[in-house]
Amino acid sequence: MKFNNILIEKSAGIAQITINRPQKLNALNKETIQELSEAFQVLEEETKIKVIILTGSGDKAFVAGADISEFADFSVNEGGKLAKLGQEMLFNLVENLATPVIAAVNGFALGGGLELAMACHFRIASDNAKMGLPEVSLGVIPGYGGTQRLPQLIGKGKAMELIMTAAMISADEAKTYGLVNYVTTQEELLPLAEKLASRIMRNSSVAISAAIRAINANFEDGVNGFDIEIEEFGECFGTKDFTEGTTAFLEKRKPDFPGI
Ligand code: COA
Repeated sequence: MKFNNILIEKSAGIAQITINRPQKLNALNKETIQELSEAFQVLEEETKIKVIILTGSGDKAFVAGADISEFADFSVNEGGKLAKLGQEMLFNLVENLATPVIAAVNGFALGGGLELAMACHFRIASDNAKMGLPEVSLGVIPGYGGTQRLPQLIGKGKAMELIMTAAMISADEAKTYGLVNYVTTQEELLPLAEKLASRIMRNSSVAISAAIRAINANFEDGVNGFDIEIEEFGECFGTKDFTEGTTAFLEKRKPDFPGI
């Protein structure tokens, strides 16, 4: 994989994707979205990769939004297409990835940046992070799933306020709202992400993928999440991970999950 706008490092089952356009505060241009999409798809196929951490390069920004310079002169059709393609290519892809994705929010996460963090399975932030959906200040609305995922994560009233006011909130406020799970110093952000990844990796990757599908089913139109849970629960009984997990428990030893 050769990319112009992202970096990928792999170590001990963890892949770290770093969005690397610091001179533009890691704003998501078309090429970066395409590269991220490709990277997530490739990493998901790598059985050795058990967790993906997504962060931004530099100490100022996770992602300061979609690249405004690329869509400032778009027509109605082009605007709609931009949102549709982006949602399909990246944001929905990340949300439904079988491999857990942790967003390590290391600075500004605005507009498309917060939307990308919200598409990840959960988020942690450094204490300098600032988050918001400022699109209405540009005369547009969030288009990469922000109007849907923000209310899911923090409730409708708070989401309405944040989107209408275009306000930027601090990492601590984001934690109070339940938007991020932990707040750390900048130095501790990636170590904490790795620590959480290591804890995840002790468990069955097959069961974790099933849990992601069942949890996400709660938010899918026309889908009964309880039914999906029943289905996924049953499927687990046919996996080698289940045999290993239950056998290890009964034999009073730590499981060594084969991941199938
Ligand atoms: N799209 C394109 N370029 C962006 C960008 C974005 N979303 N966010 C930042 N940049 C660029 C700036 O244009 C600037 O480029 P330049 O040096 O070539 O002029 C560079 O990144 C640094 O940003 P700058 O504004 O100088 O940094 P700052 O510290 O003064 O302000 C922000 C930081 C995040 C407050 C400010 O950049 C900002 O408001 N960005 C847009 C946020 C936004 O509205 N996002 C939603 C988009 S839908």
